[in-house]
Amino acid sequence: MLDITHLPRVQTPYYIYDTALLARTLDAIKAETCTHDHWHVHYAVKANAHPDILRQIAAAGFGADCVSFGEVQAALDAGFPASEIVFAGVGKADWEIRKALKADIAMFNVESLEELEVIHEIATLLNTRARVSFRINPDVGAHTLAHITTGKAENKFGIAKEDMVRVVREAQQMARIDFTGLHFHIGSQLLEMDDFVALCTRINELQDELEAAGLHADNINVGGGLGIDYEAPDTHPVPDFKAYFQTFAAGLRLRAGQQLHFELGRSVVAQMGSLITRVLYVKHGTSKHFVIVDAGFTDLIRPAFYGAYHKVENLSAASRTASQEATEENIYDVVGPICESSDVFVTDYALPATRRGDLIALRSAGAYGEIMASRYNCRELPKGYLME
Ligand code: LLP
Repeated sequence: MLDITHLPRVQTPYYIYDTALLARTLDAIKAETCTHDHWHVHYAVKANAHPDILRQIAAAGFGADCVSFGEVQAALDAGFPASEIVFAGVGKADWEIRKALKADIAMFNVESLEELEVIHEIATLLNTRARVSFRINPDVGAHTLAHITTGKAENKFGIAKEDMVRVVREAQQMARIDFTGLHFHIGSQLLEMDDFVALCTRINELQDELEAAGLHADNINVGGGLGIDYEAPDTHPVPDFKAYFQTFAAGLRLRAGQQLHFELGRSVVAQMGSLITRVLYVKHGTSKHFVIVDAGFTDLIRPAFYGAYHKVENLSAASRTASQEATEENIYDVVGPICESSDVFVTDYALPATRRGDLIALRSAGAYGEIMASRYNCRELPKGYLME
């Protein structure tokens, strides 16, 4: 349970970030990767771009994985070196490509031949060169929520693996393009190492194919995707990075001189964040009891959008004296104030007897929480605070 005494006294709803847990998580990643000097871990900025969080991750020596120039700028502002910034995304705008070239980022992860041609054109106009890796769709299934798989042939991401050799050859014909490697990403919130084993197998096959065609990639980027324990954040505050990194160490057949890149988002920041919200009303419906809180899907969209689960804790009830009321449990739906029926965090959920004014935590919300907030219903965006 989150400790209520460490919370700031500010207007709810807000995000609270446990930077000590973030530091432990970053240390755990470094412990597994520091002995491989050809490995690079890029933090996926899309998961959480709070400036203090970005600064802490940059200061720990990580690179950044970005999907818009806004993210590239946020990464540069936080102190990530341009030489460790990669830029992916199926729809990079011309101005974003221009600015990223001027910023001299490490490489573009290119998702189509059409995009490659535009990058080449812009690099030529700017009289510079563009380093590109190709995002190859590995057509590997992954065990996760339907909305967040990305590596199947029917997804919009990447270049079909059948086209890989042709596209690399095209790139080599372009005067201002330097082909630097291959990029993959099969999905997010993956807990079965077998999914990553399947990715390694596919990468090995594709590397054989590349080699047979007389081609060589300097960089292999395996994307992100390692999941976290949403059910038991206090039992597993730090994900199993050992199993994750060992899967790649054992499964990938890297070629001489190749650099290996990872793009971890959720596993770095999810467990260090919670959304703190206050109970406005406890409403007794005909067949249900509703806990109506002041946070809605505008603050944390994952339950409404993906059917995702975030553990709910009543922090105030936990701190009430051991009265009978505090030990009593009721079954509630915890819902927000937005004018949409999908604005529900959990249904039929056991919580201690809950009252108006109680503080509630939605746990494991450090990734894809604050950053996905919206202003629907003219609501204020939630702020993020560091734990005191
Ligand atoms: N690399 C690429 C190319 C990606 O598309 C993503 C995430 C990552 C890295 C980082 O993946 P992670 O390590 O965080 O799994 N909003 C969704 C998740 C979308 C993930 C999109 N891509 C959610 O709330 O679950």
